[in-house]
Amino acid sequence: MGLADDMRQHVVDTFFGPEPPEGIRRLFAPDRAFQAALLFEHWQFLQGFPRWVGSIIAGTPHLDVVQYEVDNLYGELIHDATAEHGHYALVLDAGVEAGLSREEILRGPPGPKMARAIDDWYAIARERPWVEAMAAVHGTEMLADQRLKERPGYRYPYQMGDESFLRGSGYSPKGRQFLATTRADTEHAGRAAALVERYAVDAATRAAVMETFRRSMRDMGLYFEALVERADAWRGRFPP
Ligand SMILES: [Fe+2]
Repeated sequence: MGLADDMRQHVVDTFFGPEPPEGIRRLFAPDRAFQAALLFEHWQFLQGFPRWVGSIIAGTPHLDVVQYEVDNLYGELIHDATAEHGHYALVLDAGVEAGLSREEILRGPPGPKMARAIDDWYAIARERPWVEAMAAVHGTEMLADQRLKERPGYRYPYQMGDESFLRGSGYSPKGRQFLATTRADTEHAGRAAALVERYAVDAATRAAVMETFRRSMRDMGLYFEALVERADAWRGRFPP
């Protein structure tokens, strides 16, 4: 297997295997508190994402990597053809629809575990070589990769962006729209993984990439724990 498939398999084994983390289970069966928690915490995560991408751009000598990163950020932040604006605006709108105020989403702060994960992604972006940071940062998009379904051990009959899942999911209309935009992450994560594979040419670099990628997936584990903690804390505010 190549590096990209190794990464996808690690994501399947960690998050979509026989015993997925609680946060993944609830993502696929969300109550109102979980929906609000997801949008609130995801917004906090999104504040870091373009800055981590900036460090990849600053570190790489390769124009195709810079082109990819600009293209990715344009869809996320400015405009996606499948949405009215970029994905960011949609997350705020969906958060308001879920019962939060725009102000409280913007104000934050992230829950303690999300804060730890975000700090670590900043550390990776600052301290690790760009090719490792690229695997780590875009690994966060790989959780929505449609290609995970083709890997051995993937336990769900659908992915989070699939219409067949979203229709009966219990997500509100804008929440569904937000999750539908994660379909773009198949391309985002796939192109990033292909570029990492192209430029991680020797065995030592490939091993370092996988190590930093696994570190980022431990941070994703914290991300999902933060969702569960926030949803549990908000159960009284958003009764089922
Ligand atoms: Fe993306």
